[in-house]
Amino acid sequence: MSKSKNLDSAESVTMIYSVANQKGGVGKTTTVISLAALIAARQKRVLIIDADPQANATSSLGVNMAANGYSLYDVLVNKQPLTKAITRTRRDNLDLVPTTTDLAAAEVEMVQFLARELTLKKALQAIIGQYDFIFIDTPPSLGLLTINALTASAGVIIPVQTEYLALEGLSQLMNTLNLVRENLNPELKLTGVLMTMFDSRTNLATDVVKEVRAHFPELTFQAVIPRNVRLSEAPSHGEDILAYAPTSSGCLAYQAAVDELLQR
Ligand SMILES: Nc1ncnc2c1ncn2[C@@H]1O[C@H](COP(=O)(O)OP(=O)(O)OP(=O)(O)O)[C@@H](O)[C@H]1O
Ligand SMILES: [Mg+2]
Repeated sequence: MSKSKNLDSAESVTMIYSVANQKGGVGKTTTVISLAALIAARQKRVLIIDADPQANATSSLGVNMAANGYSLYDVLVNKQPLTKAITRTRRDNLDLVPTTTDLAAAEVEMVQFLARELTLKKALQAIIGQYDFIFIDTPPSLGLLTINALTASAGVIIPVQTEYLALEGLSQLMNTLNLVRENLNPELKLTGVLMTMFDSRTNLATDVVKEVRAHFPELTFQAVIPRNVRLSEAPSHGEDILAYAPTSSGCLAYQAAVDELLQR
């Protein structure tokens, strides 16, 4: 148990969210880092798990590798305790389980495990209660790493890029969520659909927003994340958007998304 917190927060439940969409480059990692950083800045204890072998969340936070040499690969494949792989970040209240490209092999190596879909969920059991929020960044695929993330989560946040064919592929993702619910994690909720990279100058983007809202009327976040160059610059400085550009349109939009998420 965390000693630094009062009883109230020590007793709080840990909310675990996967950020998932098998489409590449829709803003999953940016969403994970931004939501996690902004919630940590609101004095919640937050952990990011980088479950994507591209390791973009890890490098975006300016973490080269696991500080102590351990990464998610060691947890999933070598059955090391998750606590060993937790690394602090520059931001208070924000920790990270980093990843290296080794994780790509995990997807293959885990196939032989009994209950392989439950590997991450089991590893997380040791730290439940030590964080208020856990965000899991997932790869652009519906493979075993994403299934592990969904199985370990209470909710899934789906970033959708406001571009042509935005909804393409979402029915496949919905099928996967249903399969996970039926077979592995009945509690899994679709927490929300978050529209990203919105360009207000184009009619297309406005039409896509309408289309997505029509498709997921209750579930689409009111907040829409604009296309904002600050969001794409921040990772190269190893900073989250709050540290890099707190008054940028991107940061303000993610703040609004956090307000909604904390109410859901
Ligand atoms: N709102 C935004 N405005 C401008 N650039 C953005 C925005 N969101 C993300 N980006 C940039 O777009 C690229 C893709 O975003 P990101 O890496 O978050 O997507 P992803 O879904 O995690 O990708 P992958 O599927 O490869 O993991 C990155 O270069 C990122 O910096
Ligand atoms: Mg990513």
